[in-house]
Amino acid sequence: MTSSYDWQTIPEIVTAAHAKLPRNLWDFSCGGAETETTLRRNRSAFDYLAFRPRVLRGKTVRDTSTTFLGHKLALPVLPAPVGSIIRFDPDGALACARAAQHVGTGSFVGTLASPSLEEVAAGASAPLFFQLYVRGDHDWVRALVQRAEKAGYLGIALTVDSGAYGRRERDIHNRFLARSGHRQPNLGEGDGARSDFQAGLTWDDLDWLRDTTALPLMVKGVLCGEDASLAVQHGVDVVYVSNHGGRQLDHAPATIEVLPEIVAAVHGRAEVLVDSGFMRGTDVVKALALGARAVCIGKLMTWALAAGGEAGLQCALELLQEEMSITMANIGVHTIAELGPEYVRTSFPPAAAPWPVEVETRDLT
Ligand SMILES: Cc1cc2nc3c(=O)[nH]c(=O)nc-3n(C[C@H](O)[C@H](O)[C@H](O)COP(=O)(O)O)c2cc1C
Repeated sequence: MTSSYDWQTIPEIVTAAHAKLPRNLWDFSCGGAETETTLRRNRSAFDYLAFRPRVLRGKTVRDTSTTFLGHKLALPVLPAPVGSIIRFDPDGALACARAAQHVGTGSFVGTLASPSLEEVAAGASAPLFFQLYVRGDHDWVRALVQRAEKAGYLGIALTVDSGAYGRRERDIHNRFLARSGHRQPNLGEGDGARSDFQAGLTWDDLDWLRDTTALPLMVKGVLCGEDASLAVQHGVDVVYVSNHGGRQLDHAPATIEVLPEIVAAVHGRAEVLVDSGFMRGTDVVKALALGARAVCIGKLMTWALAAGGEAGLQCALELLQEEMSITMANIGVHTIAELGPEYVRTSFPPAAAPWPVEVETRDLT
């Protein structure tokens, strides 16, 4: 099944989302913490990495498929967990899961997302992974994890980079509160405001979670080798490298920058997932070459959903796949398994384009 949208490039989708979204939602999705240094670094770090293409390795077919936690994915790109996803499309996390299903990949579903984790699981057959925010005591967490288990989720990702909610100054200036005005059905009876539980998390809680569920466990928000090693020692199956898209800690490193350190520390004992700043097929190929198993998209996902709902996100995922496939052809690899660090090298970032790059765009909405 191919998406019904005829957007031909990823910037066309971003332009369409920008045109459609009210200012406060655009700012909420695109903004970062404080000076937005992390946010900008996530993108600019890709410019310091160039490919080392190999030539004359002709094969006409490229295969972008891989496995994640043993599940076959046609595309190593998954929608990231996004709490207020319902604000970008009335079907929220269900639209993400369905778009993922159409392209043969999996999807994350957030604790703060809607519709409920059960409704998403009932409405889509994609491999689903549940992102966990801790908003209550162990009994509260156990009940939520058991709901995810019962609904057929294939893994639990504990977010660990959110001890305190980042100061996103765009939202502060707009007096915008993301969670007001819509339900967060995964939270159950509580009001979801008990973020002190999240702030108090320790490695002991991770051990407890490891003992509480038989599902594969991921820690989301790891940014250094020491924590990656600890996570593996504490039995996680996936180290999820993320700086929350620059929304939490300002002046954090870019994830593509720390990925090699983390892959080395993990040393094949767990799978490595990465997000933050990923917008293009080349970004994905660089991360896979540096040892990531798959990549998640946050902002691009919200924009594709805002622009065109489920079909819009499907279109974005298909464009990423096409860009990946072209990149693979032009660096001389045909399968993801062939990628390795020998296909990238550090380089200097490009100067501004030497000619005007403004392109006249059609009405893309
Ligand atoms: C609007 C928005 C809401 C988010 N909500 C959550 C969340 O509830 N839980 C979580 O772990 N991460 C959340 N994230 C972070 C994403 O899961 C992901 O780490 C990040 O968006 C990746 O960076 P990118 O946006 O540059 O792709 C959110 C991101 C955005 C853009």
